[in-house]
Amino acid sequence: MGAVNQHGNCKMSEAHKLLVLAGDGIGPEVMREVARIVHWLDANRGLKLDITEELVGAASLAVHGVPIRDEVIDLARKSDAVLFGSVGDPAWSHVGFDKRPEVAILKLRKELELFANLRPAQLFDALIDASALKPEVVRGLDIMIVRETVGGIYFGEPRGIETLPDGSRRGINTEVYTTSEIERVARVAFEMARQRGNRVCSVEKCNVMESGLLWKEVVTDLHKREYQDVELSHMLADNCAMQLVRNPNQFDVIVTGNLFGDILSDLASMLTGSLGMLPSATLGIVREDGKRNALYEPIHGSAPDIAGKGIANPLAQILSFAMLLRYSLNRAEDAELIEKAVSNVLASGLRTADIMSPGMARVGTDMMGQAVLREMEKLA
Ligand code: IPM
Ligand code: MG
Repeated sequence: MGAVNQHGNCKMSEAHKLLVLAGDGIGPEVMREVARIVHWLDANRGLKLDITEELVGAASLAVHGVPIRDEVIDLARKSDAVLFGSVGDPAWSHVGFDKRPEVAILKLRKELELFANLRPAQLFDALIDASALKPEVVRGLDIMIVRETVGGIYFGEPRGIETLPDGSRRGINTEVYTTSEIERVARVAFEMARQRGNRVCSVEKCNVMESGLLWKEVVTDLHKREYQDVELSHMLADNCAMQLVRNPNQFDVIVTGNLFGDILSDLASMLTGSLGMLPSATLGIVREDGKRNALYEPIHGSAPDIAGKGIANPLAQILSFAMLLRYSLNRAEDAELIEKAVSNVLASGLRTADIMSPGMARVGTDMMGQAVLREMEKLA
């Protein structure tokens, strides 16, 4: 991405420290489009970034033998924000869990205690025909899924695959949530709701899982103590999946655990037209220096099937960078500029393959990135 700070006219100390981890597959391709925007903001709007780039995922495995090095985790800890691409490569699907490319993102979340993953599902008007649902069902869609990301079955112990005395094998994972883990993510959801539609729907499976029962109790208690002004409802995860397809506009903020959040956010993304459209922010604990750990990534993966073809949609990565500007660098105006530019580009009829519909103009990654930049120039 290049060291943007070197040619800036302000002091190094004023530059925000950004760690860029493009990762695998389409990750580096879509990240390149963010780099253009970074340079433009540097030249035109005084955004000073001190950028470090590192390898993660299969790219790191190939060079260093591990999905992420401890030095990289350390760098992440000292950065103002991390911009992440995507990890995953079928070439590494046969290896043990500690050597999978996916470990990179899981470890970052865990080590930096990035516990609240914000996944907005917003429909751009111009994409209404790309949605899997009828226009009248999705029009105006604006949901925020708050997914817990350092607990639950992703990290619970015991876990593993064991061989039983009869020679057959048993795979084990454990869903675990503590009161404080539930409370801190619920707090983020309630705060978020206050700035939006003021409604939270808490999602679990309390009908079959003790951890779900505790989830519901803790959220209810917190609501009673501190957030009575926000409207709270509860829903079972399977019903929530169904309701998201039946009538998605009933939701404002959804708060849920790691696994349900993973599934429901993929589902919600399709309501907006494509997995290639959705950004996310993962917020962590507030550090000693007063800054909050945070990582920004598109919710799509490395898409090995289309990697290297120049056809990937860069918009989720670009919109993730906009979230970074808003939440970590306090630059809401730049974030809005990017979001407005994306909206205008879509309105002008440009489409990457994943959001293509009849009558629109199909473009590749590169052209889409350039179009966003041109639009930013016009709007600025
Ligand atoms: C996501 C991804 C990750 C997850 C994978 C890559 C480990 O699907 O961010 O949604 O399951 O959390
Ligand atoms: Mg996922």
